[in-house]
Amino acid sequence: MNLILKIWRQPNSKSKGKMVTYPVENVSPDMSFLEMIDMLNEKIILKGEDPVAFDHDCREGICGMCSMFINGQAHGPDRLVTTCQLHMRKFRDGDTIIVEPFRANAFPVIKDLIVDRSSFDRIQQAGGFISINTSGNTQDANAIPIEKDDADKAFDAATCIGCGACVASCKNASAMLFVSAKVSQYSLLPQGKVEATDRVLNMVNQMDEEGFGNCTNTGACEVECPKGISLENIARLNREFLISKVKT
Ligand code: SF4
Ligand code: FES
Repeated sequence: MNLILKIWRQPNSKSKGKMVTYPVENVSPDMSFLEMIDMLNEKIILKGEDPVAFDHDCREGICGMCSMFINGQAHGPDRLVTTCQLHMRKFRDGDTIIVEPFRANAFPVIKDLIVDRSSFDRIQQAGGFISINTSGNTQDANAIPIEKDDADKAFDAATCIGCGACVASCKNASAMLFVSAKVSQYSLLPQGKVEATDRVLNMVNQMDEEGFGNCTNTGACEVECPKGISLENIARLNREFLISKVKT
């Protein structure tokens, strides 16, 4: 396939960015989107120019680093995949593809397609620790009965990889889906109950401090989430938050 790429180039967080057009030829439909950018970068480097900077680590849908907004969609046109798992067969020969960084005030651009998502790290840190009984008569976690439905929901919430697609897809740049997943993965389990009140209040406070917007239930986050995190988690976050507010 031969394609035209229009890619956001921005040397650093202080400078102004712009779209730059790059033709790419002989793209295999079996390539991942990142492999296609690798191929482009090899050509750019051979010309002695600055390659396109983009985040990636695992390239298998686990780390959540490969944040790209492709043709107006976080992680591109496929569903339930990250950019590293998006394949070029989803595009057609002759297509023009627009590639931008995830955009939100709380995700400032570092360079080109790389954004600073340390705000997510700070929200998780605000959630704090899980206390463990180390008195000598510690109960084996596997011996604590947990309803199958709760265990499944907690596990589903824990599959959030912190990619930020929910924020980038939301017109309010809200981080509610991410925070709700991180709150839910603990609140549904007995081990997470001890610090549950502080956890939800601190995480929501940090979310607001970082400058994320409010949730207005548009549901775009759920549609674009590569891990299928459900809006049901946002309802749970709201309940947990209200209960914690009443308790304090
Ligand atoms: S909720 Fe989904 S879109 Fe948001 S950070 Fe987690 S995995 Fe990414
Ligand atoms: S590079 Fe790790 S999820 Fe895409």
